[in-house]
Order: sequence, then structure tokens, then C-alpha cells
Amino acid sequence: MVTFQLKTCRLRPWREGDVESLARYASNRLIWNNVRDFFPYPYTPRDAHSWVRSNKSYQQPNNLAIEVDGQAVGNIGFTVKDDIYRYNAEIGYWLGEPYWGRGIMSEAVPVMTDYIFGNFQVNRLFACVLEGNIGSMKVLESAGFRHEAIHKKAAVKNNQYLDEHIFALLRSEFRGL
Ligand SMILES: CC(C)(COP(=O)(O)OP(=O)(O)OC[C@H]1O[C@@H](n2cnc3c(N)ncnc32)[C@H](O)[C@@H]1OP(=O)(O)O)[C@@H](O)C(=O)NCCC(=O)NCCS
Repeated sequence: MVTFQLKTCRLRPWREGDVESLARYASNRLIWNNVRDFFPYPYTPRDAHSWVRSNKSYQQPNNLAIEVDGQAVGNIGFTVKDDIYRYNAEIGYWLGEPYWGRGIMSEAVPVMTDYIFGNFQVNRLFACVLEGNIGSMKVLESAGFRHEAIHKKAAVKNNQYLDEHIFALLRSEFRGL
């Protein structure tokens, strides 16, 4: 089973017992404001159940739960693109609000990056950050991602057009852990 024990948290596969804490920490407007609209808000136990069901029990999962004090309080994962973009993967993550600012994601992103480049045919890893999300930009910069582009007003959130910041890291640029 893929598990990484870090100083601030543990990254491990999602499991059935996570439904309650997932619904509790994911259901947060401040999280929803910074992620895609397909991320539910409110995030119900039913949403949590279907997330766990589709992400548990893979040999090499794309999504790992972020566990703190025995509870799943966030997610870090990636999706591989297709067609001519098939060597690209998009990394994404969120953390329950009570756990922000403890350095958890700064520790988790490099570990996830190492897991992806070490186990999947990915040549370019990228992330899309909505304007104003300084915490996420800092996390990516400290993990070695380049601030590659700003897609002006590319996204819409809460009926407002927002700039989208693209961060990227090539396999050849990754220095390892
Ligand atoms: C963005 C997020 C993942 C950051 O995780 P985190 O574990 O709190 O981040 P860290 O504690 O590792 O902080 C990283 C850096 O950002 C800074 N930071 C964190 N939150 C910040 C904020 N709201 N405003 C300004 N700086 C912030 C920290 O001080 C730290 O700075 P440093 O590197 O200079 O010490 C978390 O706030 C979150 O889940 N937000 C909602 C969902 C989201 O935005 N997901 C990412 C979508 S791209």
C-alpha cells in the first residue's frame, strides 16, 4: 500500500472509514472558492462516499488522503491528460481549514511530485491556481514549480472572471527530494 509518513502528516490511500471526516472538512466555502466547480459545496456524506468508493483500493492511486491525528483532512492527487497532452499531469490538492498554515501542503507537494515522476509516464506536471490564492502559489514555488503563465480572466468563480496562474515542472527540472 502506498503510504508516506511525513513530519506534518501522512499520505495514504482513501478508505471507507474516511467518509465522515471527508464530508466535515471538505464542506467549506473557502475551499470551494479556490477549486473547480465540480468539487461539491455543500459537500455531503453522499459526495464523500462516492469519492472514497472511486478512489480506494488502487495499487497506485492517483489520489491520496492527507491524514493528521488519524483523520483524513485533505486530498492531494493528479489527473493525467490525454491525446497530445498525454505526458502531462495536473496536480491538485486541498486541506481542511483548521490545518492551514502548518506547512502540510509544502511538505506534501514535493512528496507527491516524487511519487508521480517515479511511478507514472509523466513528463510535465502542472497546476492551475486562481488569482489571489497566495498560499497555493507559495506551495508550488517552494516545490520548484515555475510560474509559467497567467491566463487572464480564464476562469469564472462566484460569477466573477478570475485570472488563472499556471505553474509547471518538467521531469528534467525535478531535483528529487
Ligand atoms: C492552499 C492550501 C493548500 C495551502 O496549504 P497549507 O498547508 O496551509 O500551506 P502551507 O502551510 O504549506 O503554507 C505555504 C506557504 O503559504 C503561506 N500561506 C498559506 N496560506 C496563506 C494565505 N491564505 N495567505 C498568504 N499566505 C499563505 C504560508 O505562510 C507559507 O509561506 P512560507 O512558504 O513563506 O512559509 C490550503 O490553504 C487550502 O487547502 N486552500 C483551499 C483549497 C486550495 O486552494 N487548493 C489549491 C487549489 S490550486
